[in-house]
Amino acid sequence: MTTRETSTMNHDNPTSAMRLKNKRAIVTAGGSGMGRAGCLLFAREGAAVVVVDIDAAAAQRTVDEIKAAGGTAHAITADLLQAEECHRIVHDGARLLGGLDLLWNHAGMPGPAEVEGLDLVEYEKAMSLNVRSGLLSTGAAVKYMREAGGGSILFTASVAGLVGSMMAPVYSGAKFGVVGMAMSLAQRFAADNIRVNALCPGLTDTPMLPKFVNRNNDPSVQEENTRKLNAAIPMGRPGRPEELAHAALWLLSDDASYVTGVALPVDGGYVCR
Ligand SMILES: NC(=O)c1ccc[n+]([C@@H]2O[C@H](COP(=O)([O-])OP(=O)(O)OC[C@H]3O[C@@H](n4cnc5c(N)ncnc54)[C@H](O)[C@@H]3O)[C@@H](O)[C@H]2O)c1
Repeated sequence: MTTRETSTMNHDNPTSAMRLKNKRAIVTAGGSGMGRAGCLLFAREGAAVVVVDIDAAAAQRTVDEIKAAGGTAHAITADLLQAEECHRIVHDGARLLGGLDLLWNHAGMPGPAEVEGLDLVEYEKAMSLNVRSGLLSTGAAVKYMREAGGGSILFTASVAGLVGSMMAPVYSGAKFGVVGMAMSLAQRFAADNIRVNALCPGLTDTPMLPKFVNRNNDPSVQEENTRKLNAAIPMGRPGRPEELAHAALWLLSDDASYVTGVALPVDGGYVCR
């Protein structure tokens, strides 16, 4: 039995049609947070999933959870700050999966908050992970998707890629770049039947959240910052990783077959204020 034939479970609703049946997916930063939630959901929806993360143990935990539930998954450890690794995960992933239909470029990082005295090393890292890594992986993935007759690519941007952020100009600049790339790539690859979209999470309850709430890790401001940030969200709370994973599922699946080049906020109403 091939990888494509083995993933046939749906624990949410075993009688419903699986949205990713026979699809082969690579997810970066799949060891934690939204990426992990996406990997678990995609596998439940029938996809075989390659989980990529710099943290080998975290990637393997996601894979083990998928397999324990009867799904198909493989782990790849990679530091996506390294350009050649962004290509390798796609070639190795496609080999493990027997081809490639879906790519979620989810890896990213907050980056430096300071502008006066900008830390250039941290700036380059933030740009490399947020912008360059997904572009490189996409460049490698297109060949496999053409061979498959089409595909779907999702970039994780942010609400900071749709509106400016006083606290995070570098991060915001990077995520605006991600949105622009997704819109441009959508046009470039539409004729190949490859859709490209951007997911724009608002604050989401993952291990990364404290880095946005309290950049200097100062316990005395934690409570007040959390209150202020929640007050800026019409729904009054951060998103749950699973809520973002469902939006990613929709954008990647054929349910969104006429959707390309969009930047979808999933943010409890943050950008509509
Ligand atoms: N959590 C939020 O509030 C929020 C909001 C908007 C956008 N985002 C975006 O979501 C993505 C991160 O998602 P999360 O909140 O699920 O984070 P998370 O902290 O739960 O997980 C991040 C994962 O990325 C992995 N990682 C870090 N550096 C890496 C590297 N160099 N190569 C490969 N993997 C690496 C980590 O090991 C970790 O497993 C980023 O693109 C981030 O900008 C997050």
